[in-house]
Amino acid sequence: MNFEHVLVVGAGQMGGGIAQVVAASGRRVALYDTVPGAVDRALGAMGRSLEKRAEKGGGDPSETLARVAPADGLVAADLMIEAVVEDAEVKTELFRKADQILPREAILASNTSSIPITTLAAATTRPDTKSAAIESPAGKPSAAATRPASTASVPAKSLPKWSAFARSASLR
Ligand SMILES: NC(=O)c1ccc[n+]([C@@H]2O[C@H](COP(=O)([O-])OP(=O)(O)OC[C@H]3O[C@@H](n4cnc5c(N)ncnc54)[C@H](O)[C@@H]3O)[C@@H](O)[C@H]2O)c1
Repeated sequence: MNFEHVLVVGAGQMGGGIAQVVAASGRRVALYDTVPGAVDRALGAMGRSLEKRAEKGGGDPSETLARVAPADGLVAADLMIEAVVEDAEVKTELFRKADQILPREAILASNTSSIPITTLAAATTRPDTKSAAIESPAGKPSAAATRPASTASVPAKSLPKWSAFARSASLR
């Protein structure tokens, strides 16, 4: 699995930056936020960041933006990266729902900065999960995306693919 379709949940500072780097890596992104207008604001910020990068020789902003589609809720994808508020109850409920909606082979990842990934994995019914850490991204595509200390609940057999994805999307 190459994680061609990525669901990013939470379109705040981190989610917007993560959506941008994933789209810039050539993948399709579905971006979901519960607050009306949040996805539009994130797309605006992404556009400004991509324009600045284009001035310095980066790729075509419109091509990257065209790969980000607003979503009305959780949708099926190869990978979910959750970047909602740092609240264990909110994140746990999100993982419970994601477990029902995303395919069994999908990877559920969290950008949490303090909640143990095992707490989130326990809200799912996916067996054989391990946590994986993304350290600091090397690519520095935007201020928002330079600082995630993300973790993921990854089926053991998928760890190498997850690492390859994180590298190719400049998430580490
Ligand atoms: N900001 C940082 O520097 C930083 C660094 C590392 C990790 N983190 C972590 O990243 C995560 C996001 O942080 P942020 O700074 O982007 O927060 P933020 O407040 O900017 O954005 C959070 C977004 O999540 C949305 N949201 C809340 N509940 C939701 C739900 N159930 N479904 C969908 N969307 C929902 C909110 O509307 C908001 O737009 C947190 O877990 C935080 O601890 C943040």
